Amino acid sequence: MSEKFTSVEYGLEKIFEGAQDFLPLLGTDYVEFYVGNAKQSAHYYKTAFGYQSHAYKGLETGSRDQVSYVLKQDKIRLVLTTPLNSQSPINQHLAKHGDGVKVIALWVEDAKSAWEETTKRGAKSFMEPTIEKDEHGEVVRSGIYTYGETVHIFVERKNYNGIFLPGFVAWNSEYNPTPVGLKFIDHMVGNVGWGEMNQWVKWYEDVMGFENFLSFDDKQIHTEYSALMSKVMSNGNGRIKFPINEPAEGKKKSQIEEYLDFYEGSGVQHIAVATDNIIETVSQLKARGVEFLPPPPRAYYDAIPERLGEHMKIMNEDINELEKLSILVDADEDGYLLQIFTKPVEDRPTLFFEIIQRMGAKGFGAGNFKALFESIEREQALRGTL
Ligand code: FE2
Repeated sequence: MSEKFTSVEYGLEKIFEGAQDFLPLLGTDYVEFYVGNAKQSAHYYKTAFGYQSHAYKGLETGSRDQVSYVLKQDKIRLVLTTPLNSQSPINQHLAKHGDGVKVIALWVEDAKSAWEETTKRGAKSFMEPTIEKDEHGEVVRSGIYTYGETVHIFVERKNYNGIFLPGFVAWNSEYNPTPVGLKFIDHMVGNVGWGEMNQWVKWYEDVMGFENFLSFDDKQIHTEYSALMSKVMSNGNGRIKFPINEPAEGKKKSQIEEYLDFYEGSGVQHIAVATDNIIETVSQLKARGVEFLPPPPRAYYDAIPERLGEHMKIMNEDINELEKLSILVDADEDGYLLQIFTKPVEDRPTLFFEIIQRMGAKGFGAGNFKALFESIEREQALRGTL
């Protein structure tokens, strides 16, 4: 891969000087979804989200049991995989969880060392270090399980110059909707079961060398009806951020419980993708049929100047425009951020996307949690799952 990730693009310098980096991570390599019909999902992500056709493997390339489409937008690579017969183990995953994220692949210098260092510290192996070769060189991959049936695959591609991975060919399509300005994955959030958050926080600390750099308890994240807890885990260079949520007791069922019921276990709740022009990106996504959570009440937008305080001076966006697009705003001591959340992108109320533009802020929109969860609860009520 020729592109280089820089910390400036992530808005973060090395935030943990003391972090032990036995697992240096260069960035997110790809995210793989298991889906019921990859051909149709690929069309959706191209048409609605502006991803570009990138690589393919399937019957035509000699892959007899599964097909994968690789889509790309700037630094983001999505892989959509579907089994081609009833014997594939992917079917059990699909029957249980529905469409969802199976693999969060991480780009490393040394996939063998990544596997050895993590399994030595207690990770359950998913894939021993494996060399894959073709005429473009070789890739080494290895993998470990994280929460639920989700896995991390470590990808070492320094000796490879093919399109994606050995076995894939370039996917040239005549249908190429324009990108919408999605740049890179800012963070990916996992939902885990009751009382399991701290166990997974410890797992990311012990096994992956991550640190917990922000925490929210149920007193901070609650509405009249429901509550949740969240801890944000980050690797040493700050490029990989995985918040982990668990449900908390409330009067009614929280969105995390709803997710766990429908995903039938722990899994990826949302993928936050960065843009540097959220108004333009969201306008295009809406025009292409992407559905977002409805806006909070007018009072939310009236209170923005007060909430932003000092940061209002650097704010370029028109508040009326933000309200029209139902974009949320939050601030911390370093700046502000703009964010918006899609509705779930499958029929099961499970995975959704966040679009985020950071203007200095390093947080995750804690000031929006209440407005956001009330909005989700209105959707839950319509689904009969509140
Ligand atoms: Fe998020």
